[in-house]
Amino acid sequence: MEVVILAAGKGARMFSKYPKVLNTIGGKPMLQRVIETASSVNANRIHIVIGFRAEEVKERVSGVGIEQNINWVIQEEQLGTGHAVQQAVFSIDCEDDKNTVLILYGDVPLIQTRTLNRLLELTGESCLSLITLTTANNDGLGRVIRDESNQVSAVVEQKDASSEQQKITEVNSGIMALPAKRLPGWLARLDNANKQAEYYLTDIIALAVQDGCKINALNIGDENEVQGVNDKTQLARLERHLQMINISKLLEQGVTLRDPERVDVRGELTCGQDVEIDVNVIFEGSVKIGNNVSIGANVIIKDSTIGDGSEILANSNIDGSEIGLNAAIGPFARIRPGTVLHNQVKIGNFVETKNAIIGEGSKANHLAYIGDAEIGENCNIGAGTIFCNYDGANKNKSILGNNVFIGSNSVLIAPVNLADNAFVAAGSAINNDVPSDNLAVARSKQRTIAGWKRPTKKH
Ligand code: UD1
Ligand code: CA
Repeated sequence: MEVVILAAGKGARMFSKYPKVLNTIGGKPMLQRVIETASSVNANRIHIVIGFRAEEVKERVSGVGIEQNINWVIQEEQLGTGHAVQQAVFSIDCEDDKNTVLILYGDVPLIQTRTLNRLLELTGESCLSLITLTTANNDGLGRVIRDESNQVSAVVEQKDASSEQQKITEVNSGIMALPAKRLPGWLARLDNANKQAEYYLTDIIALAVQDGCKINALNIGDENEVQGVNDKTQLARLERHLQMINISKLLEQGVTLRDPERVDVRGELTCGQDVEIDVNVIFEGSVKIGNNVSIGANVIIKDSTIGDGSEILANSNIDGSEIGLNAAIGPFARIRPGTVLHNQVKIGNFVETKNAIIGEGSKANHLAYIGDAEIGENCNIGAGTIFCNYDGANKNKSILGNNVFIGSNSVLIAPVNLADNAFVAAGSAINNDVPSDNLAVARSKQRTIAGWKRPTKKH
């Protein structure tokens, strides 16, 4: 079996300069979803027809780990779905009597593996199978025409359909499977004598019937599974549908969601027991949450792990980080990639961390930037502390031992080492190492001038 995925179109109805199939659903480009599903049905090869901004499409969905099976086919001019398959047919083994070709559309992203397997079972040397759907929302879709004995005899595009045919509620999903041996002949007979002057792949249904082939329609019940995305309304609708699937799974597992309609999972989320999630929370990429974790409103967490008992307060943003047990983060904290927070760490409001390892029980409660740092246990980073990790050319590291105290509004000019129990006076600029148990004061001495007169306004 070989798969052809059609993804060359511009997607004019999206009114965008970017290729339609790169729009994401649940955080993943639609085309990538289709490729992953295609590779799950045991295809020998996956031919992907690209055309509009082809390089961009290829680049975006490459590196998902299945490239060895992929054959990229260029359709220079997009003259229709039939023309697209014509570009791929030269790479398909059409000699083998047993070979089947499965056609998928890059803009029908939620098709399921089990449905495709059912479709493939209905395909044979003289049988073509087609997924259809019966829906009142038939606008824009190809109508499935059946003869007196209820056999499928053709698919007619809406623009070419008579007013009687337009009333038909059984529509074409676009997804079909057919015997490879017959494909080149059928494709050669397509023409573009229709309203859109395109070579329609759907015209091969009638050609197959002429040749005595049986058409097996697999009429499926779930509209969303075969929903094509042609405009932003359909994109938004499918996104909501996928989100409700993700959210239902979380609820079934016992996660408390304050409002299931205001949580988005754009990737893979796993949650332990007694997890509470407030409104407007977004999870991206791969996120793992332990037991007894609470996540406040407006939090965004991407590619991170949160340990048991931790509390993420409202409006925090966590990306590419590991957070230990019983940590308290936020509100308004920004935890950037490379942050590792050990157990019981507290990161308060308007604190930003990046590439920072922070030891057990350490705290940075207010307004700080902690970049390229290694901080020991039970340290206190005062309000307004800045780790100056960048000298304009290179990044440097600050290393703090255990029980280090940094007074408010200090700057640590890296590279710098502060040993255990070092104490930095508020307002210091530290650019030399501080040995263990020492106090470092690095600020100009206060002068207090008696009898000083304030300036007065000049007339
Ligand atoms: C197509 C079907 C229609 C079906 C509907 C289901 C045809 C002629 N019509 O219509 O019967 O009900 O899908 O969603 O097939 N593409 C190319 N090259 C081209 C043209 C299109 O690769 O020259 C790709 C597009 O990128 C897209 C897919 O084929 O991924 C479908 O094309 P689209 O223009 O969206 O077809 P529909 O009008 O939706
Ligand atoms: Ca479409």
